[in-house]
Amino acid sequence: MTELHLWLRHEARTTERRTPVVPDDARRLVENGVELTVEESPQRIFPIEEYQAAGCRVAPAGSWVTAPPDAVVLGLKELPDEPVELTHRHIFFGHAYKGQPGAAGLLRRFAAGGGALFDLEYLVDDTGRRLAAFGFWAGYLGAALAVLRHRGRLRAPLVPTTKDELDETLKPADTDADFTGLVIGALGRSGRGARVAFATAGADPTCWDLAETRDLDRAALLRHDVMVNAVLATSPVPPFLREQDLDTPDRRLRTLCDVTCDVGSPLNVLPVYDETTTWDEPVRRLRAQPPLDLIAIDNLPSLLPLESSADFSAALLPHLLDFGVAGAWARCLDRFRQASREHGPDEGEPHAH
Ligand SMILES: NC(=O)c1ccc[n+]([C@@H]2O[C@H](COP(=O)([O-])OP(=O)(O)OC[C@H]3O[C@@H](n4cnc5c(N)ncnc54)[C@H](O)[C@@H]3O)[C@@H](O)[C@H]2O)c1
Repeated sequence: MTELHLWLRHEARTTERRTPVVPDDARRLVENGVELTVEESPQRIFPIEEYQAAGCRVAPAGSWVTAPPDAVVLGLKELPDEPVELTHRHIFFGHAYKGQPGAAGLLRRFAAGGGALFDLEYLVDDTGRRLAAFGFWAGYLGAALAVLRHRGRLRAPLVPTTKDELDETLKPADTDADFTGLVIGALGRSGRGARVAFATAGADPTCWDLAETRDLDRAALLRHDVMVNAVLATSPVPPFLREQDLDTPDRRLRTLCDVTCDVGSPLNVLPVYDETTTWDEPVRRLRAQPPLDLIAIDNLPSLLPLESSADFSAALLPHLLDFGVAGAWARCLDRFRQASREHGPDEGEPHAH
């Protein structure tokens, strides 16, 4: 039996309906001796009663700030701006190790409070593979939105939905027989999701991964109606598309969906736009004639909060049951310490409880 006290917090971002632990998995944690406190949250896709029924203790939204010092605070996205000093151990996606905006500020808050960040992006096995990720649903949604746009059936603003509802809109009845789709990064999690969504829409996309882009054929790329970029770039490669490619006279490409959304990064393989798109305005026209539309939404899985939470929670559960024991958490903490040294303030190394 572990003596872990987990504190599942309310998400500060109002559109964030996902959760890293769903009620069924909360029950498993409680049955395995984890003390689990769940904050009330008006937007979480699962009602608090389901957590209560699973044996969790309920606390008000945002009360993690006064949680016992040994509690491990669990969430997905950014913390609120207060308190300035973070004293707890936190598990969430910090987006703070690559010099992102706000990164140094977050690391400074941990240094000031003596807390620690277990960043979910860096919870990896001993080969470096991510243990819990939302990629599949990001790719699924990316391809689905791109196909809907191509068919002139994408409605804005986007709102969270369910897979059944989404699939209903994707039914292949009116698929253009000549339709050509392309997924780059097709062997990854997002790429797989994109392929499944294309299949649901009645399309059989061209699939490229590392082998097919090594000697990049941009003319072939431009011969697809829809392209979904789902790569995880780890070192710079020549861009898949440059400004001049968009002006190729016989370009067939009409819809470009960038699931990767590395905009502004030196690793960006699509330096043809400089701002992501949003749920309110999911599409931006990059070229008028022939038209070329961009979809580049950086929180795609939040549009399917139920399915993406369930998958993520299932992947995270075994590691939560091993919290503090397994090597993955030690690696995660090492990464935090390294980032704090590299990017953080010079106020001494933070310590973990
Ligand atoms: N937009 C969103 O809401 C959202 C959500 C989740 C993930 N993502 C992003 O999606 C990307 C993919 O995530 P994932 O979980 O699928 O990663 P993954 O590691 O499972 O898959 C990435 C794939 O890209 C391939 N790849 C890497 N470089 C390539 C290249 N130059 N050419 C062709 N293929 C290449 C890899 O071989 C791998 O198959 C990441 O950048 C991730 O941050 C975006």
